[in-house]
Amino acid sequence: MLVGHIGIIGHDRVMVSLAGAHYSNRGIKETKKLSINIVDEALLPLADRAGCVSGAKEDKSDLFDYTVGDTGAPLMTAAPVVMECSVDDVYETKGFESFICTIDHTFAEERVLTPEDKIDYRVLKPVLFEMPTYEYLRTGDVIGKCMSWGKGK
Ligand SMILES: Cc1cc2nc3c(=O)[nH]c(=O)nc-3n(C[C@H](O)[C@H](O)[C@H](O)COP(=O)(O)O)c2cc1C
Repeated sequence: MLVGHIGIIGHDRVMVSLAGAHYSNRGIKETKKLSINIVDEALLPLADRAGCVSGAKEDKSDLFDYTVGDTGAPLMTAAPVVMECSVDDVYETKGFESFICTIDHTFAEERVLTPEDKIDYRVLKPVLFEMPTYEYLRTGDVIGKCMSWGKGK
């Protein structure tokens, strides 16, 4: 499925927030595993499709090529960055289940890494989803050095 509601909580957990009725939730709750596959512009058409139809109505398992990771989670072959996660906890709010996850493994294509082996967002350019207009935005431009204004001289 396609997910915009993700977040970082602490330095060792990520959160994936899903409406409780989605088909994916069943598998996640059963296995306590999921993978986060970062969407770039090349992947967007297929990712958009994953967000338009439910697995309850249509088998989406052949939408992408994938391998199965150590934890059993499907890992998209074409995704530039993939995080294989274990669900640690579920935070329930009205109509939503937010999965609190630890990251077991992160895989990144060489081409999206800096010489220091960090993810280079200027190359990766993950797609940003904006809810009020239902539009996808391009990212990737550096607009400043963090703390260059705030710290002063
Ligand atoms: C751009 C976009 C972002 C989405 N973000 C979320 C999200 O953050 N959480 C969520 O529960 N559903 C989100 N959805 C909806 C699901 O991806 C969609 O309902 C999907 O068909 C659910 O699949 P499933 O029923 O097979 O799990 C989003 C859909 C789109 C198109």
